[in-house]
Amino acid sequence: MYRTHTCGELTGKSVGKNVILCGWVQRSRDLGGMTFIDLRDRYGITQLVFNMETNATLCKQARKLGREFVIQAEGTVAERSNKNLKIPTGKIEIIVNRIEILNASEIPPFTIENETDGGDELRMKYRYLDLRRNIVKEALELRHKMTQEVRNYLSSKKFIEVETPMLIKSTPEGARDFLVPSRLNAGQFYALPQSPQTFKQLLMIACYDRYFQIVKCFRDEDFRADRQPEFTQIDCEMAFVEQEDVLNAFEGLVKDLLLKIKGVEFDGPFPRLSYNEAVEKYGNDKPDIRFGMIIRELSDLVKGKGFNVFDSVEYIGGICAEGCAEYSRKQMDALTDFVKKPQIGAKGLVYVKYNTDGTCKSSVDKFYSEVELKKWAALLEAKPGDLLLVLAGDKNETLNALGELRLEIRNILNLISKEIYAPLWILDFPLLEWDEETKRYYAKHHPFTSPKSEDIDLLDKDPVAVRANAYDMVINGIEVGGGSIRIHDRQLQQKMFNILGFTQEEAEKQFGFLMNAFRYGAPPHGGIAFGFDRLVALFAGHDSIRDVIAFPKNNSGRDVMIDTPATISDGHLKELSLQVVHQKK
Ligand code: AMO
Repeated sequence: MYRTHTCGELTGKSVGKNVILCGWVQRSRDLGGMTFIDLRDRYGITQLVFNMETNATLCKQARKLGREFVIQAEGTVAERSNKNLKIPTGKIEIIVNRIEILNASEIPPFTIENETDGGDELRMKYRYLDLRRNIVKEALELRHKMTQEVRNYLSSKKFIEVETPMLIKSTPEGARDFLVPSRLNAGQFYALPQSPQTFKQLLMIACYDRYFQIVKCFRDEDFRADRQPEFTQIDCEMAFVEQEDVLNAFEGLVKDLLLKIKGVEFDGPFPRLSYNEAVEKYGNDKPDIRFGMIIRELSDLVKGKGFNVFDSVEYIGGICAEGCAEYSRKQMDALTDFVKKPQIGAKGLVYVKYNTDGTCKSSVDKFYSEVELKKWAALLEAKPGDLLLVLAGDKNETLNALGELRLEIRNILNLISKEIYAPLWILDFPLLEWDEETKRYYAKHHPFTSPKSEDIDLLDKDPVAVRANAYDMVINGIEVGGGSIRIHDRQLQQKMFNILGFTQEEAEKQFGFLMNAFRYGAPPHGGIAFGFDRLVALFAGHDSIRDVIAFPKNNSGRDVMIDTPATISDGHLKELSLQVVHQKK
């Protein structure tokens, strides 16, 4: 037997017991005639004690153990005189009478502590060492617990988990596909699924009216903290449902997770906002509603007073930063620099300081009297001591910039707690978006999303005005899930492909299987997919989903540990009928 106990389970009740532990040497301290070793395994840390006076040979052996050596230690549990009440095993220690080195270790390239000295790339290269750190371990344990709870909850509601293939044909979710060459079919490629979208629809047509799958998805897209090229979805679909049924079913899942995993009880239904409302009030379709600072339009109030910047633009809007009237020149410059960043895109920032003495001082005093500035303050519900921040320009771009500025102020003022969960639904998304560059419509969600029945007439007259039966779930400013009621009518699906610029042949080639299936009794259906990594990161309090994935990719899509993507041999290329053409940069 390698061990009788783990390093996380011995307490005061075990005093006097003879035990065998196995684990890694976390730390070793020599104090006078004593040596103390913290032995770590997945479950915790237990202190081992060696005494030069009572067993000099063993103590000398212990002093030779390096960090991360794997050892087996046998001894007696004793009460500690110097108790550490911060850890469950802190009241005891093991008086060791035998140790065995199971494997030595080189000096690790960074310290295996929560506050480590290892940078991101180094920790990714040695991810198996990084995974020994408590903070990462806790995230993976939480992930496991959440996986179990999702499976329990959905199974209890009659959903069945069905696996769908990984080697498939392109699914249009808006990203590029990862492709896999076929050896047996020279010159042909599989695509890895961006989601199991079409397969879950086929399962509905088949009769499996409640499906889910915790499934890997692959998307070749630009990186962000909340994106990975391979990520996990809780993918779900239901038949014989309307939007309301889907919202209720999955609000139930998230409420269950909040309660069982975080102990947070959420009373009543999740708030709902239309897409337009979300954009107008928060500047984007994934609002963080843990705090106010709502965007308000000022156009009517500020136009026509001789200030050309405002008079010449489509939209002027502002937010109120509470208690910031006394911001210094330097702080104002930092905010101006922030809004002028290329990714935010504003041309400049107009401010009004509503001083505590009731006076107003603004960057546009030349054009607006104090009486006028107070009207702005009233509209933005500011009180003395607050700072008004105003942006102007194209409506969508300005709302987006105001949304970013709102989040920046949230961060500066530390307005939120990670322990508060503020979920909501965003509804009534537009079905289509027009892209000026390619001069074509794109599906805002995906091409299988049904238009609202009352808007179907608009499909020919004014496509961008058509609203979709689509919904996103947002928690704390993070889009954690999205879905829709699907088109289940062959003609309507065909029409949708037409609007999206597919010829009949292209649609047939890419989605013929689905269109055919629609001939054989497709029930009304709809569903949702949650970004599981995002949900876990949110529950774990991490900002990046990388922290909750065992083996993530870095920002350039590389796994630096296994060093991939990598070139393949000429023989392998030949076998796959492939030739690599190196393009000049
Ligand atoms: P969608 O594309 O909105 O919908 O994806 C669903 C959810 O998956 C998460 N997500 C990601 N997480 C990490 N890295 C990524 N690269 C990434 N991309 C998306 C998000 C998102 O809300 N088939 C549809 C679902 C449906 O209609 O039922 C789909 O995949 O949290």
